[in-house]
Amino acid sequence: MTKTTVYKNEPSRKELAKEVGHKCLVSRRNFLIGSGATTATIMVVLNPGTADAKEVPAQVTTYPRKLIGHVSKLKQDEPLDFSYPDEGAHSDCMVVKLGVKAGGGLGKDQDIVAYNYACTHQGNSLSGSYKAETKSLGACSLHLSTYDLTRHGILISGQAYQSLPQILMEVEGDKIYATGVFGLIFGRENNLHS
Ligand code: FES
Repeated sequence: MTKTTVYKNEPSRKELAKEVGHKCLVSRRNFLIGSGATTATIMVVLNPGTADAKEVPAQVTTYPRKLIGHVSKLKQDEPLDFSYPDEGAHSDCMVVKLGVKAGGGLGKDQDIVAYNYACTHQGNSLSGSYKAETKSLGACSLHLSTYDLTRHGILISGQAYQSLPQILMEVEGDKIYATGVFGLIFGRENNLHS
């Protein structure tokens, strides 16, 4: 039987075990266990291999995985919507093939990423605001926040002060699964409750 390779953009166990200080882009949560989900604060590298490379702290919550799409059905710069981690408030998300290598990107070109749609400023939906030219979501229709999808959803401009939550994924064969959330979804204390 042929073994199917699984590609993940989840942080390693070593990263998950690395506790960090109090200067967070997102709220700090240390190793909360509950409801089958695990939450931790880790350090991630933005812009690895470049002069702008730097470590930043971020919250990661892992869940049982959910099928959200297929690699073969993704068309460049055409986001597909799905709900994650549940059907509750602010669970609307999108997966998109950017066409350029991205932080946490999966697939052979490392360009498939997924994000939650809720603006981290006041929770306004960013659905329909994807910009192919800049590989960004926004500007938010309320206060113009815009997020860079190539760099873990960091803020480019606007009123927000937290990065857009990035969805952790696995690619197994042609199937794309969501497995967790990297960052804090607006309106949730720890991504576990809506
Ligand atoms: S709700 Fe999006 S910038 Fe204020």
